[in-house]
Amino acid sequence: MLVTGKNILSKARKGNYAVGAFNFVNMESLQAIITAAELEQSPVIVQTTEGAMNYAGIECISLMAHIAAKRAKVPVALHLDHGKDIYYIRAAIRYGYTSVMIDGSHLPFEKNIAITKKVVALAKKNNVSVEAELGTLGGIEDNVSGVVGLTDPAQALEFVKRTGIDSLAIAIGTSHGAYKFKGKSKLDFKRLGEIRDIVSIPLVLHGASGIPPAVVQKAVRYGAKLKEAHGVSDTHIIKARAGGICKINIDSDLRLTFDAAVREVIMTQPEVFDLRKILGPAREQMTDIARKKMQLFGSSGRA
Ligand code: G3H
Ligand code: 13P
Ligand code: ZN
Repeated sequence: MLVTGKNILSKARKGNYAVGAFNFVNMESLQAIITAAELEQSPVIVQTTEGAMNYAGIECISLMAHIAAKRAKVPVALHLDHGKDIYYIRAAIRYGYTSVMIDGSHLPFEKNIAITKKVVALAKKNNVSVEAELGTLGGIEDNVSGVVGLTDPAQALEFVKRTGIDSLAIAIGTSHGAYKFKGKSKLDFKRLGEIRDIVSIPLVLHGASGIPPAVVQKAVRYGAKLKEAHGVSDTHIIKARAGGICKINIDSDLRLTFDAAVREVIMTQPEVFDLRKILGPAREQMTDIARKKMQLFGSSGRA
């Protein structure tokens, strides 16, 4: 069933578990995520970026997701990930999304507050939940250059109070993509604790993929070029969850899994040109990885 982001995340916060928010761009990735949630009896958030909406077409991707979510036997929220342009926020609301992110993290503090308040006003009228972001993603190692701004706890409190958002994405050392750390994962758990102690809405962790070595090795075996890829360790995900993170965003792990599976078919069965035979195994393997994430996040059995 289709529910709001707030509905899913407030239960997660009370129950001390996190819910996966998985990016999708086509039918196969959407079905993989929803099937995983049904098999795990887990609530789930399916999300599209503006780029995904452009790739598939807003109407096509949102209607496909809307139908899949409504028919699912577990709670599903349909979320706009990293909305930066009000055009996409309006489109998401019009096409039945139940949650939107306004990402003003690149803006100065006051401007971020202003755009976020505008989106909250728009979304609340339509019973749509709002996530916003404060701080910029990037590795702790990169912080010495001053380019990365990890979230300041006092600012986070002020931001939440003044905007009326439903959930807050924070920067504690993760980054998007496959190259998050030079070696082992390193997150600022002290900062997470400080934010959690004063901010009373669900916290969100972006850039949380684990970049599993086995998946990277498989992709590389079949021709991918991926050097020194490193993600967030499972231990750190468990610690983040225990420290108050309620929504965990995963895109890269799904992409890598899909990519490795497609490469395998193409390299080992060169006679195959039926798209269902090329994309079917990728959909299955994506389902498996999404299930593992739900188990790791503690959302399995919570539907
Ligand atoms: O932040 C989310 C994604 O990992 C980037 O996705 O390439 O669809 O914008 P995108
Ligand atoms: P990853 O690149 O770590 O999967 O992060 C995805 C994300 O944060 C989407 O918003
Ligand atoms: Zn993100």
